Amino acid sequence: MKRFYIETFGCQMNVHDSEKVTGTLLARGYSQVDTPEAADLVLYNTCSIRDKAEQKVYSRLRQFKNGNGRLFGVLGCVAQQEGERIFERAPHVNLVCGSASYNRLPELLSQLEGGARRVTGLGLDTEETFETPLARRDNPHRAYITIIEGCDKTCAYCVVPFTRGPERSRPSASVLEEARRLADAGYSEIQLLGQNVNSYRDPSPAGWDFASLLDGVARTPGIRRVRFTTSHPRDFVKAIVEAIDANPVICNHVHLPVQSGSTRVLERMQRLYTREQYLERIGWLKGARRAIAISTDVIVGFAGESEEDFEQTLSLLKEVEYDSIFSFKYSPRPNTPALGLGDHIPDEEKGRRLTILQEKQRTIQMRRHAALVGGVEEVLVEGYNFATGQWIGRTSQNRIVNFTSAAMPAPEGGTLAGRYLRVRVTRAGPNSLAGEHAEDGAARDLL
Ligand code: SAH
Ligand code: SF4
Ligand code: F3S
Repeated sequence: MKRFYIETFGCQMNVHDSEKVTGTLLARGYSQVDTPEAADLVLYNTCSIRDKAEQKVYSRLRQFKNGNGRLFGVLGCVAQQEGERIFERAPHVNLVCGSASYNRLPELLSQLEGGARRVTGLGLDTEETFETPLARRDNPHRAYITIIEGCDKTCAYCVVPFTRGPERSRPSASVLEEARRLADAGYSEIQLLGQNVNSYRDPSPAGWDFASLLDGVARTPGIRRVRFTTSHPRDFVKAIVEAIDANPVICNHVHLPVQSGSTRVLERMQRLYTREQYLERIGWLKGARRAIAISTDVIVGFAGESEEDFEQTLSLLKEVEYDSIFSFKYSPRPNTPALGLGDHIPDEEKGRRLTILQEKQRTIQMRRHAALVGGVEEVLVEGYNFATGQWIGRTSQNRIVNFTSAAMPAPEGGTLAGRYLRVRVTRAGPNSLAGEHAEDGAARDLL
């Protein structure tokens, strides 16, 4: 039997693509192993969003001077971006395939198995999406569903439109069918995925938009939580907030990447909204009936970002009071429009801005979390941390809660993983909460 190893870098779309690739290989009779050394086929599913991410695959490939009988494949965004140049940098690579060509994987694998030295899947002009009932999901309770692939935006700093190709939405019936199948298989949480889920357009005659699809998935019997990521502010409509209001199954958390608080920088980034338009959407979220947690992505040190522009990002942070942020130093990327704008801000200055931003956000998060102490939160239990002796759960608002449970202090003869429990919050940190499985709910929860 042939053995494969796969390592995944990058975003949740990549994580889920790897689940689909893994399922495809298992169905072909391969078995999965935990180290590249034990494998006949080594796959790296790569990310190219920033230079650091891209360099990871080359450092992995350098660990092996040659194939030594092993086959190597580079998948994902670096594969699409670099194409056949990968063979020059790492001559022992045998397969280079971008995500828009994963439908061709069985055919490409047949060629490799038949002795071909170098095979590629680099087409981007496909209308198709990569769907397979074979996906082998890593988490037994939370499942990803891809609803839209590719991206039609042209954010000046971003490689994704080049690495994942044009937008293709999946028919609503196919998404709903997968949601039902997952519920039947025991999954209770679904996360809808796409680089820009808001521009979802059902290609079938039903013609659903994203808010209808979100509502449809959330009506699947057995599904208790539905999340979605990522939203582009330009395409984020009020109907999404109304769907969250109408159906408590839709988690009260929205990730709405802002990138910068300065309209001048947003314009240079080609983000298609102003600071004011972004804040209008935040207003919709804050006006919802349930408190909706808001998270974002920020890039510091984009070409031409002045001290004043940066201050505007800091003031936006203060105004929105995000529940969490992901922040990055600008990294110039191949093929992107922003290359023409240069990269004037020295790395130390980017680092200084990043530190200031993150410290400011830390204070905001600390304050927001402290306000939750004493309350009760419902968590979906994800696992147990043996080092701390606490269970790990996640709230609908996507906050991590580490907690103890008198009813089941440790996973012996059973587990709390996969359960929905009520936890009393006793302590707050900047990145997580701590608590106790609420006594009043414990008996009922564990029935
Ligand atoms: N589709 C999503 C983002 C995908 S990339 C969206 O539109 O929001 C995830 C994040 O990486 C982006 O939101 C951005 O903050 C960051 N990013 C993308 N390109 C980058 C670059 N060249 N340098 C630094 N950060 C970048
Ligand atoms: Fe990149 Fe912009 Fe598309 Fe997001 S919306 S993937 S940042 S081009
Ligand atoms: Fe990275 Fe590609 Fe995702 S560049 S962030 S893996 S879409």
